[in-house]
Amino acid sequence: MICVKVPATTANFGAGFDSLGAALDYYNCIWMEEWDGCWIEILDDTDVPTDETNLIYQTAKALYERCGRPFRGLHIRQENRIPTARGLGSSSACIAGGLLGANELLGRPCELAQLVDLAAAMEGHPDNSTPALLGGFVAAAMEGEHVFWAQCPLPEELGFVAVIPDFELKTADARRALPDQYVRADGVYNLSRSALMAISMAQGKLENLRIAAEDRLHQPYRLKLIPGAEQVFDFFDKQQAYAAYISGAGSTLMGLVPADRMKDICQAARAFLDAQGLCGWQVLGLRAGEGARIVTAEEGR
Ligand code: HSE
Repeated sequence: MICVKVPATTANFGAGFDSLGAALDYYNCIWMEEWDGCWIEILDDTDVPTDETNLIYQTAKALYERCGRPFRGLHIRQENRIPTARGLGSSSACIAGGLLGANELLGRPCELAQLVDLAAAMEGHPDNSTPALLGGFVAAAMEGEHVFWAQCPLPEELGFVAVIPDFELKTADARRALPDQYVRADGVYNLSRSALMAISMAQGKLENLRIAAEDRLHQPYRLKLIPGAEQVFDFFDKQQAYAAYISGAGSTLMGLVPADRMKDICQAARAFLDAQGLCGWQVLGLRAGEGARIVTAEEGR
């Protein structure tokens, strides 16, 4: 069996709605081999389909079909660490992993850039799927079926504190909360901040993050879908985090913090959540991640 290791991602990075994202050092592992029929094993207690509707299976099958190659079926073993429907790119991880794994089984007929395009088309927006495949910090724009992207490493000094609610928020529901149109001032507000975010990441200008992470395109509409979010943002503010934002479509709230204070802020976040009675919420301290890659059986263990 081949093994694919694929990262969690944080999309809508600050003001970069549907356009900026980053890979995190928190990974799912997917083992795949060709098989007569569909055999899917889930190695944890995550509730995901084990029939042909499984997203990894569907994605891999689509690549076989696209390459004009016969598809017999697959045996998939799936280990899910990335929580589902929490704004940490669990669907993108399935899509990126399914594409990379199938491409490997097929003898690598597709270039990485083609997989990036296919992943974004399947996901619908490129800000999770592109960093899931490429790693690091990514700016991405879709033009027709093609993703134009630029990538750079995240600054070494940057840490992430993910505060993960105990409830799911489906991207489709979170998108329905958004208006169809915006006023010009809000467009300019986000344009200027997402441009500032992109260059600040590339240059390590972390002092800009507080302004660069502000958003008027999705957060004001989605906050009401995440009870407790305002209090968590206040917590990050009191901890003097660089910034905080809704990761992806939510429900995770992401604090951008100095890497050398990440552990302390994680501990403080745990205590804060317990004091609020939010005991089922999770806290993760994360750093920059690598893009999806084929690993040895040893590494995947
Ligand atoms: N950018 C998407 C959204 C989620 O906010 O709906 C990540 O793909």
